[in-house]
Amino acid sequence: MSFELPDLPYAYDALGPYMSAETLEYHHDKHHFAYVTNANKLLEGSGFEGKSLEEAIKNSFGSNPGLFNNAAQHYNHMQFWKWMKPNGGGAIPGNLESKIIADLGSIAAFRDAFIAAGTTQFGSGWAWLSLTDGKLAVTKTANGENPLVHGGTPLLGVDVWEHSYYIDYRNARPKYLAAFFDNMVNWEYVTELFEAAS
Ligand code: FE2
Repeated sequence: MSFELPDLPYAYDALGPYMSAETLEYHHDKHHFAYVTNANKLLEGSGFEGKSLEEAIKNSFGSNPGLFNNAAQHYNHMQFWKWMKPNGGGAIPGNLESKIIADLGSIAAFRDAFIAAGTTQFGSGWAWLSLTDGKLAVTKTANGENPLVHGGTPLLGVDVWEHSYYIDYRNARPKYLAAFFDNMVNWEYVTELFEAAS
């Protein structure tokens, strides 16, 4: 097995004005590509060569930090491209909406918690909506870590590394997070993941 950089599922300029073509070109072509290249190098001789990406992530967590961070960032970014779409945001499909209200109180409370998680993640990392033991949770992680290594299924994640927003928002991370939630999220894809994990 080797890891491969997937194409973006839309044009570089498709997420404007919320995420620029310049950001997507650097983020996908340079940053994601580097994670793939490094993960493939570190996979050699690691003992994880025959494993799936998810198995390599779960099994290298805590034992092979170099491979873990690069493989997890490959997974996170493959999902991140699909977690966004042109003209995203808006209404959340009914069954996921009901589950969010049941587990997190309301859509507004979920939005606040998700943006707060991303804002308060000190340094690089991610904010998440995940399903663990049948329950939704909003969490944050550092660097490449994700809910897979905590027994959860990632349903939605937002990259809060500066490379994801600095060109478009400079240091205004909360503004980027609000634009992500309100204008970029592909809720249909989040719902697909929710239904597959339920
Ligand atoms: Fe990133």
